[in-house]
Amino acid sequence: MARQPRPPRIEVATDESVTRAVERLRAGDLIGLPTETVYGLAADAGNADAVAKIFAAKGRPADHPLIVHVASAEAATAWAASWPAAAHRLATAFWPGPMTLIVRRAPHVLDAVTGGQDTVGLRVPSHPVAQAVLRAFSSSDTRPMGVAAPSANQFGQVSPTTAQHVAEEFPDQALLVLDGGASEVGVESTIIDVSGAVPRVLRPGRVRAGDIERVLGQPLADACADAPRVSGALASHYAPRTQTLMLATSRLKMQLRAFRQAKATQPTRCVITHSFDPEPMERLRVVRLAADAETWEYELYALLRQLDQERYGTLIVETPPDSPEWDAVNDRLRRATHGSSLDES
Ligand code: TXA
Ligand code: MG
Repeated sequence: MARQPRPPRIEVATDESVTRAVERLRAGDLIGLPTETVYGLAADAGNADAVAKIFAAKGRPADHPLIVHVASAEAATAWAASWPAAAHRLATAFWPGPMTLIVRRAPHVLDAVTGGQDTVGLRVPSHPVAQAVLRAFSSSDTRPMGVAAPSANQFGQVSPTTAQHVAEEFPDQALLVLDGGASEVGVESTIIDVSGAVPRVLRPGRVRAGDIERVLGQPLADACADAPRVSGALASHYAPRTQTLMLATSRLKMQLRAFRQAKATQPTRCVITHSFDPEPMERLRVVRLAADAETWEYELYALLRQLDQERYGTLIVETPPDSPEWDAVNDRLRRATHGSSLDES
C-alpha cells in the first residue's frame, strides 16, 4: 500500500508547543518557525543530516547557503571567525531584528550551512516565539547552538508570512509549524555583508540602506557582480505562478483603457495600485494598497499568494515609487515579474 503522506501540524505557540518544537530540533527534525520577517523552515545548524532535510524539502540547490539564527549578538559571535567593528555597530543597532550579517565563518560551521563558502550569514530575530525557541534550544548545550532556517517555501516561490502558508508549501512533510501570527515585517531580512573591506547590502529589507550608513558612519559599497551566492539574488525568485508584471502609472492607465475596449473573452485581470482607483469594470479585480512601503512589505507576499489562488489571467502591479524606502518592495517585485511582458495586441 502506498505510504500516506503525513501533513504538517500547525500548533499555536505556547510554552508546551515551543518545548515540543525544540525537542524536534534536537531530534534532527525540521520545524516551521515564525519570525518577524517571514516564516522559516528550521533545523539544528550543527546537525548535517538535519540541514540536508531542509535542502531536500525545499528543492534548493546544495550550494546556496543558509542563515544561522541565534538568540543574541553574543551567541552570534561564536559562529564567526572574527567580529569586525561594523558587525558590532550593526548588531547593537538592529538586533534583535530583520537584519542578517555575513561574516567570516568559524571553523565549526558546517559546509552544508555555508554552501562551502568561507562566510556565514547570522541573524538574531526579534519575534518572541523565535526568541523562545532559540533560547530554549541553546540552553542545555556547551557547543554553539543555532538554527539554520531559510524561508519556508519551495525553492523560487513566494516566502510564507503565516503558519498556514508554510503548511501549504509542504503538504507532505510531517512538520510541526509553530503559529506565531502573521509576520510583522513581511519581507525577508536585510542582508549586509561585513566580511570585506567595505560593507554592502546583498538583499534590501526593512533595515534601510540610509539607516545602515548612519550607524556605520560611512557609505555602503555597491553590490557587485562577484557577490557570493544568494538565492534571493537570482533574477527570477519570489515568483508567483500567475503571470505578473509591473507597469508605470501612465502605462497602466493606458492599458486599463485598452482593456475596457477589449473583447469580453479576455480572462479576468487583477491590478494592484497605490496612487489611483481604477474605474470599476467587468473582468477586472482591483486591489488598492496605501502608498506606504511598510504596508506593501507587510501585504505583498500574502497578497501574491491569495491572488495566485484566485487564478487571474494576469496580475499587473503599478510600479511603486523608486525612493530608497521602497528598495525591498521594488527588489522583490522585479524578481516576481522577471521575464514577464505584456502582450498588448
Ligand atoms: O528574513 C530572513 O532572512 C528569513 C527568515 C526565516 O530569517 N530567511 C531567509 O532565508 O530569507 P533564505 O535562505 O530564504 O534567504 C537567505 C539568503 C539566501 O539567498 C542565501 O543565499 C543568502 O541569504 N546567504 C546565506 N548565507 C550567505 C552567505 N554566507 N553569503 C552570502 N549569502 C548568504
Ligand atoms: Mg528564501
